[in-house]
Amino acid sequence: MLRRRTPLSSFVLKLGGSALLSVATVAAAAAVGWMSKQSQRVELAAPEPATEEDPLFKASNYALDLVPGEAAPELVSYGKQIVERTYDLVGPAAQDESMRFAGNELACKNCHLDAGLKKFAAPYVGVTKRYPNFRKRENRIGSIEDRINGCMERSMNGRPLPKQSREMQAIVAYMDWLGHSTDDSGKVEGTAFVAVKYPDRAVDLDRGKLVYSKACSTCHGIDALGAKLPSGHGYQFPPLAGPDSYNTGAGMHRVLTAMAFIKGNMPLGATAEHPALQDDDAYDVAGYINSLPRPQKPNAERDFPDRKLKPMSTPYPPYADEFSLEQHKYGPFAPIREFYASKYDIKKSN
Ligand code: HEC
Ligand code: HEC
Repeated sequence: MLRRRTPLSSFVLKLGGSALLSVATVAAAAAVGWMSKQSQRVELAAPEPATEEDPLFKASNYALDLVPGEAAPELVSYGKQIVERTYDLVGPAAQDESMRFAGNELACKNCHLDAGLKKFAAPYVGVTKRYPNFRKRENRIGSIEDRINGCMERSMNGRPLPKQSREMQAIVAYMDWLGHSTDDSGKVEGTAFVAVKYPDRAVDLDRGKLVYSKACSTCHGIDALGAKLPSGHGYQFPPLAGPDSYNTGAGMHRVLTAMAFIKGNMPLGATAEHPALQDDDAYDVAGYINSLPRPQKPNAERDFPDRKLKPMSTPYPPYADEFSLEQHKYGPFAPIREFYASKYDIKKSN
């Protein structure tokens, strides 16, 4: 039944071996009957040997009843709720209209998986200790609050949370709590996304669409508009396109950033250690989802005042080079990378 000659069949096989065996995947997949469909086609490989869990990322070390009194347990707990139910507390579903800061019904944890505790899903462990730092997008030093608002205005397609608001303080308190065991640098293994090797060619959108229909559409929908939770607010499977998705200024809208996120996290259950997709498939599917319509980020041309510092897959101008918008969006990226290395001595990774 498996057509082994096509590149996709090897990916399906891999999917059976690693991704499907995670508890989270099985639960989510069973809910949509995905598992049963897949298992008719794939033979499940033996479970991967369990690797020892890094205590810095272990949820039980961050139980809310462990929060010491001086850290204001209610604030930490409220911050966690905002990360998990952003749409309800500071988004379109908030009862108080003045609290509707997020413009879509995503939740932070849709991308920062396990509410910020999953390695290589831009985790929050130690993040508050890594700020303030230099932000290329603004060309100045930015605080953790600025960074959170970067996601509010782009990933959440909304407006900034006031820095002094209880909501912002709660998010930061929760992140502080997730950093209670790291050293002062806040540097931990597993920050940002897994390193990927992008192919030396442009994205193949037809292949991306095929990968999407085989590996993503059962959860995210044929149209990539996702599936809401039974309550009618927030998503069981978040949208990857359309009016309720991240906007064009979001990090996820860069093909190389999306590729790295997808490689280490999707289909649900994949990890950086046991990815389900080959780099080629992650690259093409990242290009495909980002070819679909989504909200526009206003004033995006003001990002990266120092244009040389713009990540090369930023899909909007202006640029400090002559490559086309099309090439910045879909590659090939090697010529752009080489241009910045030789002309400006800048090493580009995404
Ligand atoms: C659509 C996906 C998405 C959503 C939703 C999202 N983010 Fe992010 N976030 C990202 C990406 C991608 C990055 C890393 C971007 C980069 O710099 O490459 C990031 C980075 C961050 C960082 C910096 C992490 C670090 O290691 O420096 C923080 C803090 C953050 N987000 C907070 C939030 C908060 C709080 C929310 C909810 C209000 C949120 N994000 C919602 C995608 C998302
Ligand atoms: C088994 C169901 C499932 C499959 C299959 C799946 N996803 Fe997801 N995906 C999810 C869920 C659930 C989340 C949100 C995670 C959370 O909230 O814990 C998510 C989150 C995401 C996000 C970030 C949130 C957003 O809305 O932008 C992206 C991007 C994404 N998936 C892409 C993909 C791609 C590409 C594929 C196929 C290669 C894929 N997913 C396959 C369930 C799935």
